[in-house]
Amino acid sequence: MRAAVLHRTNESLSIDELPEPLAPEGGVVVRLRAAALNHRDSWIRRDQYGRLRLPCVLGSDGAGEICAVGAGVDGTWMGRRVIIHPSHTWGSDARAQGKEFLILGMPEQGTLAENIALPLSRVEPLPEHLSFREGAALALAGLTAYRAVVSRGELRAGEHVLISGIGGGVATLALVIARALGAIISVTSSSAEKLAAAKSLGASFGANYTTPNWEKELVAQAGRAPTLIIDGAGGDGLNALISCAAPGGRIVLYGATRGVPRAADLHRLFFKQLDLRGTTMGTGDEFRSLVALFAREQLRPVIDQAFPLERINDAMALMEASTQMGKIVIDL
Ligand SMILES: NC(=O)c1ccc[n+]([C@@H]2O[C@H](COP(=O)([O-])OP(=O)(O)OC[C@H]3O[C@@H](n4cnc5c(N)ncnc54)[C@H](OP(=O)(O)O)[C@@H]3O)[C@@H](O)[C@H]2O)c1
Repeated sequence: MRAAVLHRTNESLSIDELPEPLAPEGGVVVRLRAAALNHRDSWIRRDQYGRLRLPCVLGSDGAGEICAVGAGVDGTWMGRRVIIHPSHTWGSDARAQGKEFLILGMPEQGTLAENIALPLSRVEPLPEHLSFREGAALALAGLTAYRAVVSRGELRAGEHVLISGIGGGVATLALVIARALGAIISVTSSSAEKLAAAKSLGASFGANYTTPNWEKELVAQAGRAPTLIIDGAGGDGLNALISCAAPGGRIVLYGATRGVPRAADLHRLFFKQLDLRGTTMGTGDEFRSLVALFAREQLRPVIDQAFPLERINDAMALMEASTQMGKIVIDL
């Protein structure tokens, strides 16, 4: 089978011919139809990720059809459309993952390949209204967004939520989820086009985070400060979020694309009685809840564009340039 392999950091991925995987006992082989990129793939390629084991087939997101079943698996699974859990072995404590927690795609084989072998417990039926591309786009970013908005964010219907950097994969899925749950949504972006696109997806207010004092303008537009903020950028921009949040509000941080702040405004953080909450991916139950929510509400992830596997390096370059709105998908 063909697969996109990273042999050395800071180099391009190569398309290699690898042996076909066999269905393990209690498991299946998924003939992947689509995968999707996450910023994690880029951190790994650029040597900015811990405990690297190379060469490796990257990719945490995938959807496809079951093409082989192992011993002990019901034959009715053959041919079924499935979405793959992007992580596993969370552990027994729903509050935080244990040491065994793993994300698909380094060290084990990821989804940027034509086939993948997995235990049956790591696939879910793909909701009928979703295409393979949409299924792939949903997995890792959707799980992260679901836990950030629902479990850690504790979003309530009618609440004003601010989602920063709306062009990002996780951010667009947080918007789709928060809207379905009845939130009033504000967004930030570096791009006027992305702010307009977010409004067509259901955001009510928007501001450009590169403009000084954008947070004051946003609160003035909305007529009230957000009580929940979902952020994956971190960096010095965190202080504007602390300033923007309503007293008693929650800031849920799922990433730090812009690194750590040079000076965090701790005085305002404690004086406003804010909760700063970290979050990472999610449990198996949260993944099933995410898929059920998308099926029940007929939701769809936002896809920027799709590339064939041969153009994997163009797709990676697009993500590293951050010009996308939503997920970058790879057709397999
Ligand atoms: N903890 C987890 O489980 C988890 C899971 C997934 C991702 N992450 C992390 O979350 C971050 C985003 O991941 P992703 O896959 O969604 O990446 P992505 O699709 O590449 O998102 C990048 C987006 O970040 C936004 N951004 C950049 N600088 C910003 C700033 N100063 N303020 C606000 N937004 C800014 C940009 O939005 P605009 O284009 O709108 O300006 C850009 O489109 C990464 O750091 C990633 O490692 C963590």
